[in-house]
Amino acid sequence: MNATQNLKNDHITIRRVKEIAKRCSNNLYANQHVPIEDIEIISVIIEEFVDHFHHGKEEKAYFPDTKDKDGFAEDIRKFLIEHELGRRIAIMLRRELNECKRRMKETSLKTNKLDYIIMEPVARFLKSYAVFIDDHTGKEDKFFDLIEERNVISTKEDEMLLKHYEMCENEAGGEARMQEMIILIKYLEEREWMKDR
Ligand SMILES: [Fe+2]
Ligand SMILES: [Fe+2]
Repeated sequence: MNATQNLKNDHITIRRVKEIAKRCSNNLYANQHVPIEDIEIISVIIEEFVDHFHHGKEEKAYFPDTKDKDGFAEDIRKFLIEHELGRRIAIMLRRELNECKRRMKETSLKTNKLDYIIMEPVARFLKSYAVFIDDHTGKEDKFFDLIEERNVISTKEDEMLLKHYEMCENEAGGEARMQEMIILIKYLEEREWMKDR
């Protein structure tokens, strides 16, 4: 797999995360129960896999390498702004999730059941993140197609990028941790609340 396909391949996994976030949000809006632990897993996957690992590879390796080619700089500038937007949504999601946990402790709820009012901000940011993924990966996929069509990355550059990706993976927690992320995505996909009702 070359450096461009590697990122496109991540997008397939990231769109699975999008589907999970969307379903979770819909359930919360419909006042259907989703365990808060599961929502925390979504938040961790967003932070570690989507943001740290995948956006890390794009920001530290792929984009710096392609930005001076064929007038791609403007596209890349927009992608970086979108990453910032995604990061902000992820931070707000985390903050609201922590707030929910705090309120759960405060009200000493024995079950995990939180009502709609408390969960609404979480539902909102999950939905925003799902929209962000949809929009952003769609645009990037088109950009990656163009790069492949024009054949702008040399074999040598490709090798260097793949090496650089390994460093990004280590920074994001290492290969084992990233494999764990995939297992967690699968775990969430199989949860009861993910099934069609
Ligand atoms: Fe991106
Ligand atoms: Fe991407």
